[in-house]
Amino acid sequence: MTEIIDGNAVAGQIRAELTGAIETLTDAGSQPGLATVLMGDDPASQTYVNMKQRDCEEVGIDGVHVEIDGGASAETLYETIADLNDDPDVHGYLVQSPVPDHIDYREVIRRIDPAKDVDGFHPENVGRLVAGDARFRPCTPHGVQKLLEATGVETEGADVTVVGRSDIVGKPLANLLIQKADDGNATVTVCHSRTEDLATKTRAADIVVAACGVPELIDGSMIGEGAVVVDVGVNRVDADTEKGYELVGDVEFESAKEVASAITPVPGGVGPMTRAMLLYNTVAAASAQTGVDVDLP
Ligand code: GUN
Repeated sequence: MTEIIDGNAVAGQIRAELTGAIETLTDAGSQPGLATVLMGDDPASQTYVNMKQRDCEEVGIDGVHVEIDGGASAETLYETIADLNDDPDVHGYLVQSPVPDHIDYREVIRRIDPAKDVDGFHPENVGRLVAGDARFRPCTPHGVQKLLEATGVETEGADVTVVGRSDIVGKPLANLLIQKADDGNATVTVCHSRTEDLATKTRAADIVVAACGVPELIDGSMIGEGAVVVDVGVNRVDADTEKGYELVGDVEFESAKEVASAITPVPGGVGPMTRAMLLYNTVAAASAQTGVDVDLP
């Protein structure tokens, strides 16, 4: 029987454990604060930041949302960033991507106080992660690691093929999985749009992580018997539904399920884990900035 990995359940456990830490911080007069910044009106981004704010409310984090008109200047966004850097009640924040075309997202990230960069995207935090001294693990890679751990999947000595080389998922995940650590020690192959013979690389893997943003690129014929499949993709594809679309992953679930030993669904797999790890990073940021020690899951 193929195990369908329940990301909602694991994320729920992590949120429950974080609640204790949030209470400790709040009782000490330091309720963790998270701000989300959305520039423009990308519908998927709106959904994501709404969910992040709802998560904050549920666990007792002080959530603040800032919306900036998509036509506003870069300076307007930079002023918001400077204000958030200076605000002692905001321990962490993020600027949701994508940003409008006239905004340089790299420059946006460079302006975020690295101590408040709960996405883990600032160059200082990327450098620390690669050096094996991460301040904040980016939320999706961290969520993938926690999901594998909760499922009892050992990464030590495993051949992992990561499909996708994004700054948000593929690169940090590959770096984390090769680290000398209990949740690392893997042999990692990173594939991307110029990889030749992708199927040979995915078929050879004990663990396949699909994070390329191509709907259902990886089907069952590309998965080795008994492999673990983690699908990071969230793609809106046209469908005859009320909303006019449906969500599919980067993996063709039905055929991959036939050969995998365990597989994450979309939705309900990696997505909830990403959101839980944002709360985790916010609690870690609040603890570091206030000096109030807490146990993290
Ligand atoms: N857009 C898609 N994923 C993310 C994320 O993890 N952080 C931010 N800031 N924007 C995103």
